[in-house]
Amino acid sequence: MKVLTKNIRDNREPMTRVDYEKAGGWEAFKKAIQEFTPVEVAGLVKEAGLRGRGGAGFPTGVKWSFMPRFEERPEERPAHVYLVVNADEMEPGTFKDRLLMEGDPHQLIESMAIAAYAIGADIAYVFIRGEYIQCQRNLQRAIDEAVEAGYLGTDILGTGFNLTMHLHMSAGRYICGEESALLSALEGRRAVPRHKPPFPAASGLFGQPTTVNNVETICNVPHIINNGAEWYKGLGLHKDGGTKIFGASGHVARPGLVELPLGTKLADVLEHFGGIRHGHRLKALLPGGGSTPLLTDEHLNTPMDYEGVGAVGSRLGTATMVVMDETTPIVGVLRNLEHFYAQESCGWCTPCRDGLPWVERILTNLEAGEGQPGDIELLDLHVKLLGPGKTFCAHAPGAMGPLESGLKYFRDELAALIPDDQAAPGLTQPANAV
Ligand code: NAI
Repeated sequence: MKVLTKNIRDNREPMTRVDYEKAGGWEAFKKAIQEFTPVEVAGLVKEAGLRGRGGAGFPTGVKWSFMPRFEERPEERPAHVYLVVNADEMEPGTFKDRLLMEGDPHQLIESMAIAAYAIGADIAYVFIRGEYIQCQRNLQRAIDEAVEAGYLGTDILGTGFNLTMHLHMSAGRYICGEESALLSALEGRRAVPRHKPPFPAASGLFGQPTTVNNVETICNVPHIINNGAEWYKGLGLHKDGGTKIFGASGHVARPGLVELPLGTKLADVLEHFGGIRHGHRLKALLPGGGSTPLLTDEHLNTPMDYEGVGAVGSRLGTATMVVMDETTPIVGVLRNLEHFYAQESCGWCTPCRDGLPWVERILTNLEAGEGQPGDIELLDLHVKLLGPGKTFCAHAPGAMGPLESGLKYFRDELAALIPDDQAAPGLTQPANAV
């Protein structure tokens, strides 16, 4: 099933604007701005039930509905209203937005133009991962071609709608992908998360009304405009509508990406990647990035959508799976993930800044055969102390997702790493403890 990926060629060479138009491109934009009001476009997306593909699954139409409307009171309209596309794809194991930006940049630009119209934005940014050089080139070319064709600029197609679009290259920290840290970075300030509320719709970029959407999320919009909300909902096989770009890396026969209906069973998704590498069986997988709790072979019948994965105690996240077979020691997986999160903590709040290196240290000691009695309980304690609501943003709680599930499903394996002849229980101090 190809909706978002239908124009993407095997060599990822993107279409020119003319080829994209021949394939039906920019028709949805024309339809949106010539036949619908902004509120109607937002309403259609809400009705379709499109959920955010960046990881959190928040309903996109609902997010758009938080934007203040100035149609009835134009004198109150601020100087600018912003759309920001989060293309800072840095979630471990996640490489789906890269495919969309490299392979079909016009789809993203058209989608952004429709979204900007729907929320009343006049300036749109793509905040893009610094290493995604080819994506940047392809997107810039597509933006230039769209300006040339009159799809961007002032009084677009004679409708009075104005839109300017910019690419902004990230300087490269994981936390820049957190939407409020991203906005700080875009303003040229230190990329630390902001308190929410206020959410960006109330006070976003430069304090103005702003919507932040993920690349894949927004690429669904032209297809909803062209085919309607009912069609979109009907694409899903379980509770959530639409398709999803699933990915797999690690111990599958053919790592990569594939677009499938949301709600496809986990076992069937794995089959599209050739299953677990020859002669091995599934031990565990991260369903959608480093912060999503592990699934195991007991979850093979799970419908892979937001509701389905949520019901078994994990999250769909970005749906790009990191797959591990039975030869993988779980302590190494957890240590590697916690090392990443410790290193990428912005350092703003104490539990995250100091707790994550401590967790990493405990796991490093366990892996080296130098664990101590009480280490497993200490990890349990950190799961609580760094969990939701205990830190300024979702970074540390996200890092606790795989750890908590690792402790749940592989507790005996982890406990068996503590040597029998260890002395009395003690606290494993972090490397930098004073
Ligand atoms: P969140 O659940 O706090 O927010 C999701 C979106 O919904 C945000 O845009 C937020 O503004 C909006 N929202 C939520 N509650 C709202 C409310 N009451 N009113 C108005 N708007 C509201 O999640 P967050 O922290 O934005 O994202 C976490 C996810 O991002 C995780 O699943 C993580 O895996 C993923 N992630 C993905 C990355 C990638 O490369 N794709 C990188 C880093 C994290």
